[in-house]
Amino acid sequence: MRSHYCGQVDEALLGQEVTLCGWVNRRRDHGGVIFVDLRDREGLVQVVFDPDRASMFATAERLRNEFVIQVSGRVRDRPAGTINDNLRSGKVEVLGLELTVLNAAETPPFQLDEDNVGEEHRLSYRYIDLRRPEMQHNLQLRAKATAYMRRFLEEDGFLDIETPMLTKATPEGARDYIVPSRTFPGNFFALPQSPQLFKQLLMMSGMDKYYQFARCFRDEDLRADRQPEFTQLDIETSFQDEAGVMGTTETMVRGMFKQLLNVELPDTFQRMPYAEAMERFGSDKPDLRIPLELVEVSDLMQHVEFKVFAAPAKDEASRVAALRLPQGSDLSRKEIDDYTQYVSRYGAKGLAYIKITDVAAGRDGMQSPILKFLPDETIAGIMQRVGAENGDIVFFGADKTGVVNDALGALRVKLGLDRQLLTSEWAALWVVDFPMFEWDNKRWNALHHPFTAPSCSVEALKADPGKALSRAYDMVINGTEVGGGSMRIHEADMQSTVFELLGISAEEAEAKFGFLLNALKYGCPPHGGLAFGLDRLVMLMTGSQSIRDVMAFPKTQTASCLLTSAPADVPAKQLRELSIRVKLPESTSD
Ligand code: AMO
Ligand code: AMP
Repeated sequence: MRSHYCGQVDEALLGQEVTLCGWVNRRRDHGGVIFVDLRDREGLVQVVFDPDRASMFATAERLRNEFVIQVSGRVRDRPAGTINDNLRSGKVEVLGLELTVLNAAETPPFQLDEDNVGEEHRLSYRYIDLRRPEMQHNLQLRAKATAYMRRFLEEDGFLDIETPMLTKATPEGARDYIVPSRTFPGNFFALPQSPQLFKQLLMMSGMDKYYQFARCFRDEDLRADRQPEFTQLDIETSFQDEAGVMGTTETMVRGMFKQLLNVELPDTFQRMPYAEAMERFGSDKPDLRIPLELVEVSDLMQHVEFKVFAAPAKDEASRVAALRLPQGSDLSRKEIDDYTQYVSRYGAKGLAYIKITDVAAGRDGMQSPILKFLPDETIAGIMQRVGAENGDIVFFGADKTGVVNDALGALRVKLGLDRQLLTSEWAALWVVDFPMFEWDNKRWNALHHPFTAPSCSVEALKADPGKALSRAYDMVINGTEVGGGSMRIHEADMQSTVFELLGISAEEAEAKFGFLLNALKYGCPPHGGLAFGLDRLVMLMTGSQSIRDVMAFPKTQTASCLLTSAPADVPAKQLRELSIRVKLPESTSD
C-alpha cells in the first residue's frame, strides 16, 4: 500500500512518485490549494492538493484531523521561503495525484499538538496519545534499547530463559498480586515481584548465564518512577564475582549509551561505598551531576548551647550536617521558607542557615537566626570545614541520621536543579558495600533481598549482624537507581542463618523457600547477577519525567488502567468457580 514512510521523504526522492499512508495531522486551505501534513511513525510530510484534479480536490476538502488516507504523488521542491528546517522532509512536498480515504475519524478528544492535556485524558485515549511524535520516539528508543541489550548478551553467551508468571511469592519488599487457583480452592498463585528465585535455580541447573526481559509485579505505592507492572532486564551468572557482573553490565550500558545517544559514559564507573554515599550525599542513589555535599559537623556542635543541635550531635543515631550552597546568600526569606517547607516533608523540624557576607569578619560578616547560639570557634570551625566563601549560604540539618540524610539529600538535589548547577549531563556510578541489614521496628530487615550474600562468615554475621556488609551493588545514573544485584548465598548454612536473623523461623523458611534450601544442598555453584529496571533506564535515556511516558499502556497512580477500565468486577459464576466470596469494607460497600 505504500512505497515510503512519510517521515522519510526528502530531497533524495525529488521528481519521483511515492505512495504514502498515514494520518492527517493538519489540513490547511490556502487560496484554492489544500495542504495536508501527513503523519506516520517516522514523521511528517506536506502534501499539496490543487484544484486541477476536481474529484481528488473535493475529497481533500472533506479531510479532517486524524483521517487515515493513502496518497500517491510526486516529490517536488518546496517554494523558496516555505522550507522547514525542523523536518527531514522540510525541503520538499508531495504533489497529490491520487487520494483514497482509508478511514474517517471523529474529532479526536484532544489535538496531538495540544499542550497540557491531562494525563487521565491521555491514558483514557492512549492510542491517540501514542501517535504523538514524542511518544513514538520514546517507544522506538525503548525497542532499540532492548534490541541492543539482547544482542549484547547473546553475543556474550547468555541464554534467554523464561520463568513462570503464576508462581509463589518472591520477597522483594512489596505486596504481591495474587491469582486464585480454581483447581486448588482457597489457594493462590502470586505474580512474581521478580524472577529472583527461579534465576538462582537456573544457576543450580547449570545454565551458567541467563537473561530475560521479565515482567515484574509489585503492589506498592506508586511514584513517577514506579509502576505496579514493570519490566526488568534480569541477569544471572555462575562462577563470576561482583567484578565480573558489574564489568559486563557496565560495558553493556556504556555501549548502549554510545550507540543510541552518542553519549560517552566513563570507561569504568566509580564505585562508592554506601556509607560514603549516605554521609556525603544523604542518599544511596546520589546524583553526582550536582556539585553540593553534606558535611558532617556533629563533632563541632556537641557543646553548643543550642539544644536542637547539641542533642543530636551527641547521639549515635543522629547527625548534624551542613550543606553549603556557593553564592546562595541571595536567597530571599520567602525562598528559604519554601525550602524549609520542602524539607519538612522528609521529617525535618527546621532548616537553620547562615548567610555569609564576609567570612573574615566572623559573626559580624554573617546573618543567621542561630549565630547567637554558637561560640566564635564553632562558627570558625564550621566555615573552615565547609570551605565557606563570601556570598555563600550554609544550611544545617540536625535530627535522627535518617531524617537528616533524607531532608538534606533531597534539598541538595532540589537546590542543584533550581539553581541549574549540574556539572555534566550524565553521571553514572555503582554504590557498593551496603549493610546486610537495617534495624527497623525492633527487628532486622534485609536491605536487599534475603538471598544476598554477606561479605563475611556465618560466625561474623551472627556475632554482629548490624556491622555486616553485603556483596550487593546498585547502578545509579543521574540519581536514579537503574539496576541492582548481588552475589547470592550459595550455601545452605548461610541461607538458614540469614533467615534466622530476619526472624523467619525454620518452619516458615521451609514452607516458603523449602525448594530453594533443598536445591542449595545438591550442588549449587557460586552465583550472582543483577536486574535493570528497563523502564527507568529508558526514562533516563529519553529524558522523560515519568516511566509512564516510556510504557505503551501504563497504570495510573492508583494502579488502574483507564483505557480498559481494569481492574473490574467479575461475574458471580466465575467467583463461585474459584470458591471466592467478596466482602467489601463498610466504606465502599454502600
Ligand atoms: P530490585 O528490587 O532492586 O532488585 O529491582 C531491580 C530494578 O528494577 C527497577 N524497579 C522498578 N521499576 C519500576 N517500577 C517499580 N515498581 C520498580 N521496582 C524496581 C529498579 C531496580 O533497580 N531480584 C532483584 C535483582 C537482583 O538481585 O538480581 C530485584 O528485583 O530500577
Ligand atoms: P528555633 O530556635 O526553633 O526558631 O530555630 C532556629 C533555627 O533553627 C530556625 O532557622 C529553624 O528552622 C532551625 N531549626 C530548628 N530545628 C532544626 C533542625 N532539627 N535541624 C535544622 N534546623 C533546625
